[in-house]
Amino acid sequence: MSNLRVLFVTPEAYPVMKTGGLGDVSGALPSALHQAGVDARLLLPGYPAVLQQTHSEDTGIHLALFPGINALLRLGTMPDSHLPVYVLDCPGLYQREGNPYTDANGQDWPDNALRFAALSKAAALMGTEGIRDQIGFIPQIIHCNDWQTGLTPAYQRYLPGEHPHIIMSIHNMAYQGLFPADMLTTLDLPEDSLHVYGLEYYGQISFLKAGLYYADWVTTVSPTYAEEIQGPEFGYGMEGLLGSRQKQLTGLINGIDYQQWNPATDNYLWETYDADSLDKKASNTRALRQQLKLNESDQPLIGIVTRLTHQKGIDMVIAALPDIIHEGAQFAILGSGDLALEKLLAGLADRYPGQVSFTQGYHEALSHQIEAGADMFLMPSRFEPCGLNQLYSMAYGTIPIVRHTGGLADTVIPVTPTTLDTGTATGFLFDEESPQALFDCVDNALVTYRNPDLWRQLQINGMKRDFSWHRSAQSYIELYRLFTEE
Ligand code: ADP
Ligand code: GLC
Repeated sequence: MSNLRVLFVTPEAYPVMKTGGLGDVSGALPSALHQAGVDARLLLPGYPAVLQQTHSEDTGIHLALFPGINALLRLGTMPDSHLPVYVLDCPGLYQREGNPYTDANGQDWPDNALRFAALSKAAALMGTEGIRDQIGFIPQIIHCNDWQTGLTPAYQRYLPGEHPHIIMSIHNMAYQGLFPADMLTTLDLPEDSLHVYGLEYYGQISFLKAGLYYADWVTTVSPTYAEEIQGPEFGYGMEGLLGSRQKQLTGLINGIDYQQWNPATDNYLWETYDADSLDKKASNTRALRQQLKLNESDQPLIGIVTRLTHQKGIDMVIAALPDIIHEGAQFAILGSGDLALEKLLAGLADRYPGQVSFTQGYHEALSHQIEAGADMFLMPSRFEPCGLNQLYSMAYGTIPIVRHTGGLADTVIPVTPTTLDTGTATGFLFDEESPQALFDCVDNALVTYRNPDLWRQLQINGMKRDFSWHRSAQSYIELYRLFTEE
């Protein structure tokens, strides 16, 4: 048993709260660390769903976060695992139903700065002697995730005593947690932190920049994205800072939680299957078509499951879709987000009944059913720090068609004569950010689909890849050890 002790701080973790891939990662990575012998514990905000599902009846210890804002830190366990989770119970900040970041109209909660500063402050306090003694857990590493936890090392810097080391993981640079400079006092941050060498970003407070500047090490979720964010296109003005930290910046690829995403055991499927029983995948395709009112057909079914944001390139799908339908394909699309994109997708479903289905909303079961039932999975992202759905697709024998960026470029191996020979090809990639390039790539996949032996080979190549968290967890452990064994 290793003696590493890690506090994993995150605004969401599957299954108690998930809006996207960060939820998946925060559900799986701490468990994988735990299995590898690390005493990994989560810290999550006490949203109603979190309080209910973590059984944190523990009376908790008192945390004074900001003047007039106190919380109870309660210890519970994640459902279906023994992973300890500290829940920050502060009803004034978190006792709201629904999405952790926005209200029912998709507007950010007006007090998000305080809500996530509180999470960060709690994490920093948990590294101090007084609190450590009370909870009986002395973290050596505090592992922060995304802007919502970015202030942790800033707070820590101004707290007295010895502290744990802080790793800051970026899952998406596009979300930065920017707030007006005059909130500095409310957030209990000293004047001198609002500096270019600090958490200032063009005159505002940036939670993300605080994390990138003050943390001991920065990671992101793929090697290619780690490179990309050091350039102007994806660095959002922080490329200089990231470049200067190049030696403390690592890209570690995400994994698949095979307990949740495995076609051989997935309870959401109509029929389970594996690489040796791929014919059973067709039952899922049939059932999915029925459920989504798509015509029975021998055309390939293209799946999409996504947040509808500019990042994901769905506008390019919308532009290319009529031509793709014309070539002979169907679409099963699940997503929510940008209202204009939702409207356009609903319009396409009306225009092509039986050929295009669009389900608005967030549906865990349907997301699994599309992964299993679709023949191809389309992810034309403008940028993609890692991406999980292309990994799930490969595990489900569903061929990914992706843009060559970030983690998509690192995980999908393009079909070429060489990769076909070596049995490594797993999908289709395109470079240019345009509907035409997307169409050409999909068209190439449609042609390949007509060769069943070749298609089957691609499916098997993908299904045989090992994307388990085990390997990534080992890389994180090596990184933690840089600090604990120095
Ligand atoms: P991101 O985190 O940028 O959204 P990822 O590919 O890393 O992208 O992870 C997305 C995760 O969220 C996947 O588990 C995917 O299945 C899930 N997801 C996204 N949109 C929906 C939706 N509308 N319904 C159900 N699951 C969704
Ligand atoms: C972010 C990224 C996605 C990544 C996920 C988990 O939401 O957009 O690419 O897979 O975080 O790291």
